[in-house]
Amino acid sequence: MKPDNTSKYAANRFSIAPMLDWTDRHCRYFHRLLTNETLLYTEMVTTGAIIHGKGDFLAYNQEEHPVALQLGGSNPQDLATCAKLAAERGYDEINLNVGCPSDRVQNGRFGACLMAEPELVAQCVASMREVVDIPVTVKTRIGIDDQDSYEFLTDFVSIVAEKGGCEQFTIHARKAWLSGLSPKENREIPPLDYPRAYQLKKDFSHLNIAVNGGVKTLEDSLVHLEHLDGVMVGREAYQNPYLLAQVDQQIFGLDKPVKKRSQVVEEMYPYIEAQLSKGAYLGHITRHMIGLFQAMPGARQWRRYISENAHKPGAGIEVVETALAKIPQELNV
Ligand SMILES: Cc1cc2nc3c(=O)[nH]c(=O)nc-3n(C[C@H](O)[C@H](O)[C@H](O)COP(=O)(O)O)c2cc1C
Repeated sequence: MKPDNTSKYAANRFSIAPMLDWTDRHCRYFHRLLTNETLLYTEMVTTGAIIHGKGDFLAYNQEEHPVALQLGGSNPQDLATCAKLAAERGYDEINLNVGCPSDRVQNGRFGACLMAEPELVAQCVASMREVVDIPVTVKTRIGIDDQDSYEFLTDFVSIVAEKGGCEQFTIHARKAWLSGLSPKENREIPPLDYPRAYQLKKDFSHLNIAVNGGVKTLEDSLVHLEHLDGVMVGREAYQNPYLLAQVDQQIFGLDKPVKKRSQVVEEMYPYIEAQLSKGAYLGHITRHMIGLFQAMPGARQWRRYISENAHKPGAGIEVVETALAKIPQELNV
């Protein structure tokens, strides 16, 4: 599918997956310097945290747009309350997590186990849609446990689309085992089944369908985009963030120069300084930048210098400057 920059789901053509503990606001700011167009997802935030928690769980930087809030929950009223707060704060999309298999999430009766309750998911989506104008989307798996037939998936999607009004689904193209596997194993062991996601788009051509799971290159992304509306990349975008530097050109078709890695590091300086002056801790920002020079000469020294120094009390921008100086200048990367 060709880029359609006029659709309200245009950004969804390429997105970075919600990843707990990884895609926090510092990470998203850094990713945004690499790509203007990519849709960024927050980590999953539970309705309980937003409604009862101490602290601002909806905080983000304005530079992050377009940014989607991923919610974890299954109480339609609570989800509506949180969606409304998020829309008021300017988020561009609300996404409901129907893919996480962790025990903690299952105890709260949300995440992947909700695939077995499509009527409830439809109610959740409908009650959020009633109170916000931004898209309300769902991220799900292709099945859970032994409920892994194509019909199980299509029943889920048709109920959530027809009764809930959901128009966009991101399909993590592997099923989840709700017991027996850790969340990490559940991202590795169940096999990927991209043709199932492609078939879903054929059978629900009016819906916006994005695929997720195991995508490592922009070339692979373009292959998926021949069948689907969007591609969501998780671990590879985090571990090898320079992948993002050509997304605007290769995926969104924009004609603009590709930033160098060192330029992106330098563009982080004002943000880092501003965050440090507000009491942030250097290591919390730089940990997301560790993979930037992956496979380049000097990468190990960059990584090591940051890992050994950014957590020290009082560590400041000089740590990043010194780490950057470990990359041979003549490489001009
Ligand atoms: C550290 C980590 C945390 C994750 N947290 C979430 C989450 O909060 N919400 C969610 O829907 N998926 C979460 N996921 C799953 C990813 O969004 C994605 O579906 C999965 O990693 C597969 O995509 P990938 O192969 O491109 O990484 C997480 C994955 C990782 C590695």
